[in-house]
Amino acid sequence: MSRILTGIQSTGIPHLGNILGAIQPAIEMADSGDNDAFLFIADFHSLTTIKDAEIRSENVRAVAAAWLAFGLDTEKHTFYRQSDIPEVAEFTWYLSCFTPFPMLANAHSFKDKSDRLSDVNAGLFTYPVLMASDIMMYDADFVPVGKDQMQHLEMTRDIGGSINHTIGKDVLIIPEAKIKENTKLVPGIDGQKMSKSYGNDINIFEPDKKLRKRIMKIITDSKGVEESKDPDSCNVYNIYKLLATSEQDAKMRKNYTDGGYGYGHAKQELFELIIDKFAKERSAYNKLIDNPEKIEKELEKGAEKARLVAQKVLSRVRRELGYN
Ligand code: TRP
Repeated sequence: MSRILTGIQSTGIPHLGNILGAIQPAIEMADSGDNDAFLFIADFHSLTTIKDAEIRSENVRAVAAAWLAFGLDTEKHTFYRQSDIPEVAEFTWYLSCFTPFPMLANAHSFKDKSDRLSDVNAGLFTYPVLMASDIMMYDADFVPVGKDQMQHLEMTRDIGGSINHTIGKDVLIIPEAKIKENTKLVPGIDGQKMSKSYGNDINIFEPDKKLRKRIMKIITDSKGVEESKDPDSCNVYNIYKLLATSEQDAKMRKNYTDGGYGYGHAKQELFELIIDKFAKERSAYNKLIDNPEKIEKELEKGAEKARLVAQKVLSRVRRELGYN
């Protein structure tokens, strides 16, 4: 049995792009085959940018509620909040003493911001060490990540290799990246990749009225109702097709090409499809948000399981470094 582990950013309510591109595929992967999956909410990492306590804990709750609403099995898998296992901070210190300065100075996550060094805090600079710690603290074998995280995985392997080499023993498991190749590209309401930072996201957990209003804002061309339309260049259709069955999809394509069917109609159908398709998840999410103690209970259960592994690995490392 291999352990797969991945970290989830805690930047707020997951939008449709996060759901289709990350949450659903990760849950599917965790459930498939003989995997022991560790999934955690990276709330220590969020402190590099978010300083507000209330926002941070709200974000964590929203992320946790979304994963739980989409059916993550917390009996089978280990689902926890990074900060519930403070051992990871101690481990980060050990790893940082094996991390060469130039390696960190080369990280994209730092370099992207290095034109304004006064805005870079040390936490942002050492972000990759904390990430290495997240991974090797739990003896992970595989780490499913997007291409943008590849460099961080390379650094993790280098840092782990350096410790093993120095100690002369395989005290840490060197993880392998599992690159997520064809992640679904989910367009936002303006047709660009859906992203909170572009302000083009769709929050499916919103109440019906607000959600409908958002969908009505999807940008289209100005063809009149009667005209024949091209589905493939339409933002409404391009979101619709990601959720539709093949019959629904074929019918929608025909509506577009036949004409006599306006963008307002298409948006209404997209709205109905979303509330129909995600009825269960929308209700589960909102129930959890209204009962945060249920979310807490799930996270505590995960933390208990995760801590057992963390303490085992940490005592192994402490012993080898002479801290016994
Ligand atoms: N840095 C990752 C991201 O931006 C999140 C993350 C933190 C992570 N720790 C991790 C991913 C450990 C995989 C393994 O998406």
